[in-house]
Amino acid sequence: MEYPNTNLFLKDGREVTFAKAAEKDALEVMHFFQNITQETEFLSKSSAETMKSVNEVKYWLMTLDKSKKNLFLIAKEGGNILGMGQLIFSLRHKSKHRATVAVAVRKPYWNLGLGTQILTKMASFARYNGVSQLELTVMENNQNAIKLYQKLGFSQVGKIPNAFLMQNGSYSAELIFVKQI
Ligand SMILES: CC(C)(COP(=O)(O)OP(=O)(O)OC[C@H]1O[C@@H](n2cnc3c(N)ncnc32)[C@H](O)[C@@H]1OP(=O)(O)O)[C@@H](O)C(=O)NCCC(=O)NCCS
Repeated sequence: MEYPNTNLFLKDGREVTFAKAAEKDALEVMHFFQNITQETEFLSKSSAETMKSVNEVKYWLMTLDKSKKNLFLIAKEGGNILGMGQLIFSLRHKSKHRATVAVAVRKPYWNLGLGTQILTKMASFARYNGVSQLELTVMENNQNAIKLYQKLGFSQVGKIPNAFLMQNGSYSAELIFVKQI
């Protein structure tokens, strides 16, 4: 699935490119996941579960590239990935109006408007490709993300209790959010 490259501007004026990740980005993608899983506990993957070799990442990106439903996008400043967005389309006839989105931004770049722009771009692209309902899930304690989703018009429609076992031994529910686009 193809995606047109665009530029985004952070609140501090910096310009980043937003594009589909390619095999040449494999090393930076690996570093991005290794770093971000240590910066936040709010991703479903733990740092121990991230890809450990460039070849593994290359294979993953190659598989995504061939996929007709899966788009992995990166916001990059030079060789540094600041944030990512993932869009998963449903290809089934009865649910092809639906897509799932995910977003993550490296901690040093939080609150610069990047998460908002990544989600907004992905929503426009999904809509352009026939999607009318965007869906996502979030851990119940992830207040920054929940505020962001509510700001962008997502509404909570469900909750899966005890979905994640956190480092401190407590369980966190997974909240399901939906937005008609
Ligand atoms: C959630 C996340 C993607 C937000 O990215 P971001 O680039 O910081 O988001 P933005 O700067 O575009 O938007 C921040 C918005 O979130 C909300 N927000 C963020 N931090 C907040 C805080 N401390 N208190 C209240 N609202 C907050 C606000 O609505 C704010 O919008 P505003 O600046 O217009 O007021 C980022 O914090 C992140 O990647 N966290 C770790 C991974 C993660 O949790 N991903 C989501 C998994 S479901």
